Amino acid sequence: MRILVTGAAGYIGSHTARMLMDRGHDVFVFDSLTRGHGEAIMRLGLSDRFFPGDLNEPARLDHAFTVARPDAVLHFAAYALVGESVIRPDIYWKNNLVGSLGLLEAMRLGGVKKLVFSSTCATYGIPDQVPMNESLPQSPINPYGQTKLAMEKAIIDYAHAFGTKAISLRYFNAAGASEKGDIGEDHEPESHLIPLAIRAAQGTSKPLTIFGTDYPTPDGTCIRDYIHVNDLAEAHIAALLHLDRQSTGTHDAFNLGTGRGYSVKEIITCCEEITGLKVPHTFGPRRDGDPPALVADPSKAANILGWKAKEGIVSIVRSAWNWHKNYPQGYKTPKA
Ligand SMILES: NC(=O)c1ccc[n+]([C@@H]2O[C@H](COP(=O)([O-])OP(=O)(O)OC[C@H]3O[C@@H](n4cnc5c(N)ncnc54)[C@H](O)[C@@H]3O)[C@@H](O)[C@H]2O)c1
Repeated sequence: MRILVTGAAGYIGSHTARMLMDRGHDVFVFDSLTRGHGEAIMRLGLSDRFFPGDLNEPARLDHAFTVARPDAVLHFAAYALVGESVIRPDIYWKNNLVGSLGLLEAMRLGGVKKLVFSSTCATYGIPDQVPMNESLPQSPINPYGQTKLAMEKAIIDYAHAFGTKAISLRYFNAAGASEKGDIGEDHEPESHLIPLAIRAAQGTSKPLTIFGTDYPTPDGTCIRDYIHVNDLAEAHIAALLHLDRQSTGTHDAFNLGTGRGYSVKEIITCCEEITGLKVPHTFGPRRDGDPPALVADPSKAANILGWKAKEGIVSIVRSAWNWHKNYPQGYKTPKA
């Protein structure tokens, strides 16, 4: 299949692009590099299939569609920092919604019918039950989650009106890295626990702050469902296969997690055991809008897509450690 991957210079997109290539697909990349890494595209060997451009630049999108002639689009490109979205809702709505609507239009004009969209558990807001299945109400509590939910709704309307076949994958906490250790997580600023804990242990970033120790959880810290980035990549391939079996004009959504949550303290212990280093940390107050626990019920994805996460927390942290050991400053690490 010819597949256009938006955001493949970023974390999850790059791992998925690699897996697609390993499975024999023709992969093309559309990315503005505003939050991603040209170096990742180089390491994937995709430089000559890379279309630089912003989703808000119709001419560049049009060029990418004309040259790549994709059968399907995997849409990762977005801004994804919850805190930033609260203080800069303007750039989130423009990028994640207006930009993504531009992509939908380019797909419609180019006759591309298959779409897998990177959505998030943040569309649920604060859940009233855990584990979380797809029928829970979606009530996001920050602009980031709102933009993703708005986009899911736009995709549903396009599916009904224009025959798009689409899947929204609602990821929980992506983590881990490629087993080769040459691509991995490198956000600026980084807001995810595992890279922050490992970098604090390595001394390449400040001590970790644990926000809140009085949550109604066994050790008082927040619980999250960490899912290996390669398991997410597998889910995209399962989603594409599923779309092939669908008639036109369909949309479905799936929660992607392991179904098992770990607290912040448990993650710190796991990082210390695997790295053999202490994770220096301090304690801070709860952050606004941090639910005590977010854990997926992944049974719908298992039943319908035939997908199940294979990797557990040890393999996640080991692979992340491998990446951070090889590249302590991420993609900016000077070449040896
Ligand atoms: N990382 C997670 O834990 C997580 C969880 C839930 C959902 N998601 C979603 O998964 C997707 C990928 O996340 P990630 O962590 O890999 O993010 P990332 O920031 O590492 O990658 C995003 C990529 O998209 C590109 N991009 C952003 N806006 C663009 C635009 N307007 N035009 C072209 N390219 C653009 C960036 O340059 C970057 O390469 C995002 O949509 C995010 O919302 C991520």
